[in-house]
Amino acid sequence: MPSRSLSRTENHNNAHALALRQEAKAKDDANATRTHQPSLVTHKEVPKRSIHTPLGFAAMVHSIAHIEWNAIRLALDAVWRFDDMPASYYQDWMRVADEETKHFNLLEALLKDLGYTYGDFTAHDGLWHMCEITKGDIVARMALVPRTLEARGLDATPLVQAKLKRMKLAGLDSGLLGDAKRMDAILDIILADEIGHVAIGNHWYRWLCQKEGLDPIAHYKKLAIEFDAPRLKPPLNTAARLKAGFVMEELIIK
Ligand SMILES: [Fe+2]
Ligand SMILES: [Fe+2]
Repeated sequence: MPSRSLSRTENHNNAHALALRQEAKAKDDANATRTHQPSLVTHKEVPKRSIHTPLGFAAMVHSIAHIEWNAIRLALDAVWRFDDMPASYYQDWMRVADEETKHFNLLEALLKDLGYTYGDFTAHDGLWHMCEITKGDIVARMALVPRTLEARGLDATPLVQAKLKRMKLAGLDSGLLGDAKRMDAILDIILADEIGHVAIGNHWYRWLCQKEGLDPIAHYKKLAIEFDAPRLKPPLNTAARLKAGFVMEELIIK
């Protein structure tokens, strides 16, 4: 079959998408060569510490910084790894990479003010593991990284913020209370942006399902089993999830 010649707009979009993908690959390589990285351990080996102590508080900030670090890499990976998507797909994920970088920088600055740096604590790599195992299947990637693991962040963030607010009531020293207030404000920014990231995941997951003739709800169930994805766990942040494009049927916990 003779191939159709591309319109001027399609040519422009393709050139733009290619430029974004080259930029993403270069940023990803720069990330990979950063030297002071956390030692990776299993989820169970991460020490449990109270956030009411300076050390425990810093460890909590570090653990969220590590999630953001991986989120930068997974957004860039979504750009450079997968071919033949519309230019707006690459623009969306570059925007996510920029916002994840903003989140990481806010947390790293707080960590520095606490006397630590990224890489000083151990970390676990659940988010990156899912990125690795879905690298051959863009539908699985969209289903299980943004709209499963990032969506769990929508549920978890208000719980962390409630803990931070309880610190005020616990009457701790004023330095730690100021840090808790700063962390709470950073999490407000993160939560607002993350709704957009999950919405991007939902948009492209449904777009791909429609293109491939898949039922998004039935296919998600299949993928969740195949890739051993974590199940929905209460309490859900239903308002944020609906804003991010989930439908109620997807939020029923069985
Ligand atoms: Fe983030
Ligand atoms: Fe995100």
